Amino acid sequence: MKIGVLTGGGDCPGLNPAIRAVVMHGLDYGDQIIGLRQGWLGLREGITMDLSLEVVEPIINQGGTILESSRTNPLKDRESIDKCLATAKKLKLDALIALGGEDTLGGAHGMCAEGLKCVGVPKTMDNDLNATDYTFGFDSAVSVAVDAADRLKDTAKSHRRIMVLEVMGRHAGWVALHTGIAGGADYILIPEVPPDLDGMVAHVETMRDRGKHWGLIVVSEGVKPPERTDAEKHLKDEFGHEKLGGIGGYIAAVIEKRTKIDTRYVQIGHIVRGGPPTPFDRWLATRVGMKAVEMVHDGQFDHMAALHGVTIEAVPLEAALGVLKTVPPALYEEMKALFSR
Ligand code: F6P
Repeated sequence: MKIGVLTGGGDCPGLNPAIRAVVMHGLDYGDQIIGLRQGWLGLREGITMDLSLEVVEPIINQGGTILESSRTNPLKDRESIDKCLATAKKLKLDALIALGGEDTLGGAHGMCAEGLKCVGVPKTMDNDLNATDYTFGFDSAVSVAVDAADRLKDTAKSHRRIMVLEVMGRHAGWVALHTGIAGGADYILIPEVPPDLDGMVAHVETMRDRGKHWGLIVVSEGVKPPERTDAEKHLKDEFGHEKLGGIGGYIAAVIEKRTKIDTRYVQIGHIVRGGPPTPFDRWLATRVGMKAVEMVHDGQFDHMAALHGVTIEAVPLEAALGVLKTVPPALYEEMKALFSR
């Protein structure tokens, strides 16, 4: 078979191991794998890349995606859909494997309805995709963020400071929650729960009163300050997404103003999206990549390769779309017992 493969949305560690698995397992079936560059843009404009064994063999430990990525939506208009279908026809693709999060997989679902035989491979460092237990990229992102947290605590202790660490997480606070718990944070703020700034400040004061003169606060970029007005919204990228970042500075200012403790803020943003994937992400990416090839040969289109427990299963793309998997407020409250003592 001739199978196209593309990576869409924000990059994350694990994409290259997944591409590698698609190509290597495809060889077992005698498939030819064609790379489409820059996400759906590559299909729309016919921008391709040969993916041989020699090309993919060394990329197991490489971050980013050798196919490059974009947030291009293939379903934007009729012309875009038709151009994608025309490229698939011209390249004689029997199927397409799309690696991505909600937007990219939504594109795959829509293109299936247009007659393109697509299989999805879920990825997102935010871990906010439904119908799969975890996505590759998340473990790597949290590992980098926890390393940052550990380093910041050294300075916090040495200088009797509060350090505020802002991490990615637009709608879902999974990265902040896992980073905060693994990094031993004193308070965690996530987008799913309105920020209790009084509670946070009271906790910092309680800590100080019992003799702890340093602290770590972890906050998701998607947390909104209580008094934010529409006029203060962030600039938007070309796809209409707000370019987030900066809430950590606001939180640091609140703490310093109200407690008089020297408070600093660090925003690590895209740093957690780059670098080598963790062994767990290499393993997960490899398994979902291999499963996607098998799904193509089994004719399981309009499905994605999902992690359920310790097995990889085909689930309908529709099950992953529409609603994001956010942190249940009850879980946040449960974990609060650990970070607000
Ligand atoms: O992939 C999702 C995400 O990591 C969000 O947490 C973040 O807000 C966004 O990507 C940033 O994307 P970009 O690289 O387009 O600024």
